[in-house]
Amino acid sequence: MTLEILINLAYVVAAGLFILGLKLLSHPSTARKGNLVSAVGMLVAVIVTLLDQHIISYHYIFIGVLIGGLYGAWKARSVQMTQMPEMVSLFNGFGGAASLLLGWATVSSMDSEVLASTHFFIFVTVLLTLLIGGVTFSGSVIAWGKLSGKLSSKALIFTGLRELSLLHIVAMAAVGFLFVNEPSNMLWLYCTIAIGLSFGLWATISIGGADMPVVIALLNSYSGIAASAAGLAVGNTILIVTGLLVGASGLILTNIMCKAMNRSLMNVLLSGFSKPVEQGEAISGEIKVLSAQDAFYVLEAAQAVLVVPGYGMAVAQAQHAVRELHILLEENGCTVDYAIHAVAGRMPGHMNVLLAEADVPYDQLYEMDDVNPRMENYDVAIVIGANDVVNPAAKEMKGSPIYGMPVIEAYRAKTVFVLKRSANAGFAGVDNPLFFRENTRMILGDAKDTINSLIREFGD
Ligand code: TAP
Repeated sequence: MTLEILINLAYVVAAGLFILGLKLLSHPSTARKGNLVSAVGMLVAVIVTLLDQHIISYHYIFIGVLIGGLYGAWKARSVQMTQMPEMVSLFNGFGGAASLLLGWATVSSMDSEVLASTHFFIFVTVLLTLLIGGVTFSGSVIAWGKLSGKLSSKALIFTGLRELSLLHIVAMAAVGFLFVNEPSNMLWLYCTIAIGLSFGLWATISIGGADMPVVIALLNSYSGIAASAAGLAVGNTILIVTGLLVGASGLILTNIMCKAMNRSLMNVLLSGFSKPVEQGEAISGEIKVLSAQDAFYVLEAAQAVLVVPGYGMAVAQAQHAVRELHILLEENGCTVDYAIHAVAGRMPGHMNVLLAEADVPYDQLYEMDDVNPRMENYDVAIVIGANDVVNPAAKEMKGSPIYGMPVIEAYRAKTVFVLKRSANAGFAGVDNPLFFRENTRMILGDAKDTINSLIREFGD
């Protein structure tokens, strides 16, 4: 068997491991294994690529692997769960930048003879690598800045933004045409890179922080498409396959998130161009506050409890306390279910990851569509740091900016406990009529402190 056949076989094995990894990642119980299987696939791909290419010197490669590996390992251990979306954003950005550099290196390493004999198609793929890689890099850096609070999360809107975007699109087409026709002229290459970077910057800065998770999923998809185009440019099979897998899975995720918010992708991407939304009708009524001690009496008598976690549970790091309360309730003869909204928290699967960390059994986690039809059966719905995903305005207030978004109808449970620090609005900035409902009681304070107080009441 020749080395070439062995290398191609190893690429097939690596691609198979990526696909298996993705399959395993789609369920919380197998997600860890999926991550490991994908990482092994990546190791095989990297080793085989090093054998496949004509490497002049391994020095820089080893230095790069060492610095990147150490930084990655340190970051993976030190990053807070709430900082995960911004971390993913940086990963996407680095992926885009790597593709961009590969495209750049491909053309700049060609002498005039090679340039003349290279097929036009290769320059088209390099062009796509430079543009999509550039958009991904600068867009991801802006998304990281908005999510980490280093930049204002507000959409930056100004007169002429629409024209600026149109100008970018025209400039991309014009410079792209010039680059493909005259790839030996480095000016076109640099202009292509500059326009890609600039477009990513303006396109992302005009989108509000609330939509950043969707933007990140889309940029993740772009980073895959850029890698795939780079794979075509340098003739690397595994890069094409992995790029397409990332591109497709990022698009599927973007679609799931848009559906869960009842928004189209265009609506998210062009949100900066639309008129500001009105808050809708004013909400009137009285908020009824309950102490943890009084809440305990209700929970003690409950037969069926539904826990609805949201971003506040992640902030309070209350998942372990929630699990402790869950066990106490079950020991008291009560059933405990969890309702997980697809966009609860700040990243896909945010609540599932936290609850898995606290050993909450997977078969007690339900999706919104499973619990809503049987909501009346729950004696108490405990809303823990969730707000937008339980906001009845999405169903009932036509003028509301979130009208039409599918929500967990916790308000239809017999009693609703809302555990948060105030009656302030959620991420979407929309007031929540749930807090004023007849059957709602608010237990104000940090979610972890409140749940610990309830646990103490059970112990007394
Ligand atoms: P939010 O609507 O953001 O509400 C979270 C609430 O948690 C806040 O109102 C806050 O109220 C409370 N909170 C914060 N810290 C707390 C603490 N230490 N203890 C108790 N409560 C605390 O969260 P949600 O209901 O999970 O909805 C998610 C939002 O993110 C939606 O608008 C969704 O569209 C958006 N989004 C999510 C995703 C993904 S993939 N998850 C993607 C795109 C958009 P107080 O300040 O009063 O405590």
